[in-house]
Order: sequence, then structure tokens, then C-alpha cells
Amino acid sequence: MQKAHIITNISDIKEKIGEIKCSGLTLGFVPTMGALHIGHESLIERANTECDAVIVSIFVNPIQFGPNEDFSKYPRQLEQDREICSKYGVDYIFAPIEQEMYPGKYVTEVVPPALYQDRLCGKSRPGHFNGVATVVLKLFNIITPDKAYFGEKDAQQLAIIKKMVQDLNVPVEIIGCPIIRDADGLACSSRNKYLTKESREKALTLYKVLQAHNLDLLHPDIELEYFEEVELGQDKFFAIAAKVDGVRLIDNIRL
Ligand code: PAJ
Repeated sequence: MQKAHIITNISDIKEKIGEIKCSGLTLGFVPTMGALHIGHESLIERANTECDAVIVSIFVNPIQFGPNEDFSKYPRQLEQDREICSKYGVDYIFAPIEQEMYPGKYVTEVVPPALYQDRLCGKSRPGHFNGVATVVLKLFNIITPDKAYFGEKDAQQLAIIKKMVQDLNVPVEIIGCPIIRDADGLACSSRNKYLTKESREKALTLYKVLQAHNLDLLHPDIELEYFEEVELGQDKFFAIAAKVDGVRLIDNIRL
């Protein structure tokens, strides 16, 4: 098995992309923050079936985290992630350091429309989606993929990226992929690593609430942030966010 190459410089990845494009190959792109799990794997696998070459980015984007959020403790495990990427024949992992992506103190930001930001996670995490949209546009400009793959797990993020691409005429096709769950029903997330066995049991009630559409099923220890039906662009879904023993989790089902 050929190991996926890790590239940390923008100029180096651009050179590799130049080679891919010169050969007339189509390029698929999966942006991530690493700590890869089967949810990420499903995006990579899909990219692999639909595109000739695949690039995965791994970058824990500081500007999408609030001051009291988990940026510093967010799981970082590049070698393990590399093993996973290699399994799916990923050509390159783009894993820049912060300085490479944000060399200066001041950054021009993409600001998604208020209608897309003033509810759900946008409401409870002010500035979060400016940070997401900004880094994703930067990554699109660096990687110039034909198709980019995002999970429906982050439904608001997906709607915002689709809107940005449409509004700013970004030449990339956005592919939304279904939520992958563990056998017990919990939506896979890099943050599930923070859960103890007991917390995980409580967390399972999030999906139960969505399925039955009944908040009474939520474990009493859970601190609910929102449970809402929303329509964003073409997408309509029920979304829930809650803190389970200090770990913030989100989930949704499409309508
Ligand atoms: P991250 O949380 O690492 O997720 C990367 C991609 O994997 C996102 O598109 C997310 O929706 C998808 N994903 C995560 N869990 C999933 C699951 N259980 N099933 C299906 N897809 C899943 O989302 C981000 O990173 C960042 O905000 C990013 C877009 C990379 C910008 O920094």
C-alpha cells in the first residue's frame, strides 16, 4: 500500500495539483480537521469513486473556534490519519501549519448571509461560520478541486458552503454526503473521543429525540442548546445541539 504523501506548504501542494491537472485527471477534495473516523472515511471513499485523484486537508482552523472552545485540546493525530487516508488511495494530505494559512495578524473574512447564520450553531457560536467559510474558500482557491465533499452531519455548514459557492461563483461542485453513525446510533464525530462510557450512553438520546421528535426522551443530565426545524436553501432538517457532560454534540435528520 502506497502511503499518502503529507504536504505542508501551499506552493508544494500547488505544484502537485499542477501535475494532476496536466494529466487531465479530475480532482476530488475532502476538507477536514483530522482525527478521522468512519464519517470522514465515507467522504473520502465517495471522492475516490467519483474522481481520479483525491486530496484530503487536515487543518484545525483556529478562526472557527470561539475563545472558550476546544481549539487547543482538539484531537491531533496526523500519523493515524495518514494510515486511514492511505487505505483509500488518497494522493495527498494537505496539512499546513497555522502560519502557512494565516501569516498575518489581520484576515479578510467571508461573511455568510445573516439568514444562514442567525440560528442553530451560528447563534450559539458567533463568528464560527465566518471562520468556516473563510478557510473553506481559501482551501478551494489553493486546491482548485472539481468536486468537494461535505457531510450532512454539519447541515448548517453544508448549506452555508453551497450558498457561498453559488454567490461567489466558485468553480467547484459541492457534494453532500449522508450522516454516518456508529452501530448504537450515535453520529460519528471527532469530539466523541471526549466522551466517557457513561456520557456516551446519555449522548445516544440525542438521536432518539430526533427520531421520535420528542424532547422528553433527552437524558435529564443533558444541557440542551437547540432543537429546531429549519429550512436553509434547498435543505430542510430537524437539528439538535446539546452539551453532554461538557462535550458539545450536534445531530440532525433530513425532512
Ligand atoms: P470536520 O469536523 O473534521 O469534518 C470534516 C467533514 O466531515 C465535514 O464535511 C463533516 O460534515 C464531515 N463529517 C463529520 N462527521 C460525519 C459523519 N458522522 N457522517 C458524515 N460526514 C461527517 O467540518 C469541519 O471539519 C470543518 O468545519 C471544515 C469544513 C474542515 C473547515 O475547517
